[in-house]
Amino acid sequence: MNESFCKKEVSDFDYEQHWNNAYQKTPTNNLGWYEENPTPSLELISACNLPKDALIFNAGAGASKLIEHLITMGFSNIVVNDIATSALTELKNDLSDRKYSQLQFIVDDLTNPSELLKLNNIDLWHDRAVLHFFCTKAQQEAYFNLLKKVLKIGGFVILAEFNLDGAKKCSGLDVFNYDENMLQERLGADFKLLKSFNYIFTQPSGDTREYVYTLFQRTA
Ligand SMILES: C[S@@+](CC[C@H](N)C(=O)[O-])C[C@H]1O[C@@H](n2cnc3c(N)ncnc32)[C@H](O)[C@@H]1O
Repeated sequence: MNESFCKKEVSDFDYEQHWNNAYQKTPTNNLGWYEENPTPSLELISACNLPKDALIFNAGAGASKLIEHLITMGFSNIVVNDIATSALTELKNDLSDRKYSQLQFIVDDLTNPSELLKLNNIDLWHDRAVLHFFCTKAQQEAYFNLLKKVLKIGGFVILAEFNLDGAKKCSGLDVFNYDENMLQERLGADFKLLKSFNYIFTQPSGDTREYVYTLFQRTA
């Protein structure tokens, strides 16, 4: 990892409290990252041609509508993670009991994991707007070490983060911007880039945010 990292060391910042507050203070559908139809994610997930019992891991899922879409598509083995309990409470409230029972919820920190380390054989790792909050080298290394520990060979990775022209802050926090080459470097030679595109997301406020969407497959 040769690029510069955010200068601000943030080790004493309480991320769990920050994100819990974000979901407690603002209705889900007014949050800056709320996406009613996660079309670009669904496009990349379709390209994976996964069986319906594939193990799908949604990193930092928040209260994302993607979970409901995955269940509607027939996926039955979905792990939903977030650092914020309040985010997952919002998500559970949004789902009927039937849908809820098909999911495994794990409240844990992607950059300092404990429960998440018990996962293995993941077929698809999906992250929209989470990795870009990890600005220090230690946070990024912990994230990618976890990903490489739990993803199976042949498994897929979708990373959708603010691109190099994108916002420099979100939810009051600094972000680390990416392009597909930087993501390839972080993942390493055992991951093959299958697709990537830039995407302009329109927030509930009407403002826009520029993302890079990438789909990788692990080859070894
Ligand atoms: C901008 S939101 C995106 C939420 C969701 N992925 C979506 O697309 O709607 C970032 C999410 O990452 C979660 N998050 C931030 N840091 C985290 C960490 N260290 N471990 C797990 N989740 C984290 C936040 O609680 C929040 O739900």
